[in-house]
Amino acid sequence: MKNIAVLVSGGGTNLQALIDAQGRREIVNGKISIVISSAPGVHALERAQNAGILSCVLDRKNYPSSRAMTVALVEKLKEQSIDVVVMAGFMTIVTKELFEVYNNAVINIHPALIPSFCGKGAYGLHVHEQALAYGVKVSGATVHFVNEECDGGPIILQKAVDVLPDDTPEVLQRRIMEQCEWKLLPQAVSLFCQDRLRVEGRTVRILP
Ligand code: GAR
Repeated sequence: MKNIAVLVSGGGTNLQALIDAQGRREIVNGKISIVISSAPGVHALERAQNAGILSCVLDRKNYPSSRAMTVALVEKLKEQSIDVVVMAGFMTIVTKELFEVYNNAVINIHPALIPSFCGKGAYGLHVHEQALAYGVKVSGATVHFVNEECDGGPIILQKAVDVLPDDTPEVLQRRIMEQCEWKLLPQAVSLFCQDRLRVEGRTVRILP
């Protein structure tokens, strides 16, 4: 059984999707062992508490640098014997110290079809504002491994939805969450926990 850490920063709807999938036994061979928030008082922490999952806060403000925060994070992950780290709306920069220990074992969900609308400044609602401003007809979500390149790690799963003529960023965000993110993230985590993801260069092969 693999121990999963979920990193959050806000509402935690993706965390909830993971908790619900775990309740339905859809995270095969995995268990959410800890939820780590980059900020105190966020709704995601309440979701963890309601599900009886251990949680803690690692506030970037309490550390002199991103590196120092990352070192503290890695210490926490090791302490809990974590096998896989899931970034579910985690909005804080982490440094290479995390990937040195968790190589191809950090998973992120991004609310667009990478390599579109990603990288610096592309997070949360901004991503959907950028997609609408560009006039794309489809958008979606991407689950990928995290490496040092921002939103640049090997892609695990992607799913697209139509962009509709009257979409606002909020409406598009909700459609992508419901139809893509909340499905893809638990699926990808379950595949990882079953050792069914093999990284070959930039390509992730999904084993039967
Ligand atoms: C989600 O849409 C997630 O894909 C996005 O932030 C939102 C968090 O919502 N992540 C990023 O933009 C990362 N670049 P949640 O807290 O309700 O899961």
